[in-house]
Amino acid sequence: MAENILEIKDLSKYFGGLAAVSNCSLNVRKGSITGIIGPNGSGKTTLFNLIAGNLNSNKGSVNFNGENITNTPAYELFSKGLLRTFQIAHEFTNLTVLENLMMVPGNQSGEKLSNVFLKPSLINKEEDLIKQKAKEVVEFLNLGHLSNELAGNLSGGQKKLLELGRTMMVDAKLVLLDEVGAGVNRTLLKDLGTAIEKLNKEKGYTFCMIEHDMDFIERLCDPVIVMAEGSVLFEGSVKNAKKDEKVIESYLGRGSKLKDEY
Ligand SMILES: Nc1ncnc2c1ncn2[C@@H]1O[C@H](COP(=O)(O)OP(=O)(O)O)[C@@H](O)[C@H]1O
Ligand SMILES: [Mg+2]
Repeated sequence: MAENILEIKDLSKYFGGLAAVSNCSLNVRKGSITGIIGPNGSGKTTLFNLIAGNLNSNKGSVNFNGENITNTPAYELFSKGLLRTFQIAHEFTNLTVLENLMMVPGNQSGEKLSNVFLKPSLINKEEDLIKQKAKEVVEFLNLGHLSNELAGNLSGGQKKLLELGRTMMVDAKLVLLDEVGAGVNRTLLKDLGTAIEKLNKEKGYTFCMIEHDMDFIERLCDPVIVMAEGSVLFEGSVKNAKKDEKVIESYLGRGSKLKDEY
């Protein structure tokens, strides 16, 4: 039996009178790369905000690895291995690529003032280890040549790769990607896809990814979940989603062109 890493039941979030997420129930299979698609405004990002502890829900529950994590703050989820990336990348523009990655791990000894004075060697050793890890991550992502470049100078696509890299500085179990492919050129999109597949196969990450690019979704995701008006409209293969009447209707109903606007 397939084990679920994430189980969401009857989750709702209201903004004033608007139900952005409405009695939403879905499961994410451990080890999968699950896609989430749906028209703009269908509640995808809000759903991620609820799961990842960036927003509190009004109703319903979220279970992660069998543990109830409903409305748990983001930093606690981070230490449990539940991470997310943002639709707009969150890099530190004035730090280098390597330094950006080195910012990620929490609980560094250097953060404790007493350690700065009493155990400088401990801090140096730890920093060396973190630097080593950061170097491995940039190599993994083919960003080695940009290690010492300021993150603010990276292209949109390279920033997305760096964002993915941040999830590799800790032991992630479930990573939520919000439109990681948006605005990324074809070549880098391929690298991004390869990195996601490698992390999935080699490091056992489960991914749940919101994406508009249907080719990208089709290459990576099984299953795909289609959201409409805050809840799940369809779950299955991308192939079946494309020919599902309800799915087609939900896109057309918004005046969108089906093929371009997924
Ligand atoms: N912070 C907020 N305050 C008020 N309304 C919001 C907020 N965030 C999202 N919404 C609304 O909730 C709905 C779902 O938005 P969102 O989750 O961003 O959709 P998607 O990511 O699928 O495009 C939209 O109607 C949006 O305008
Ligand atoms: Mg969104």
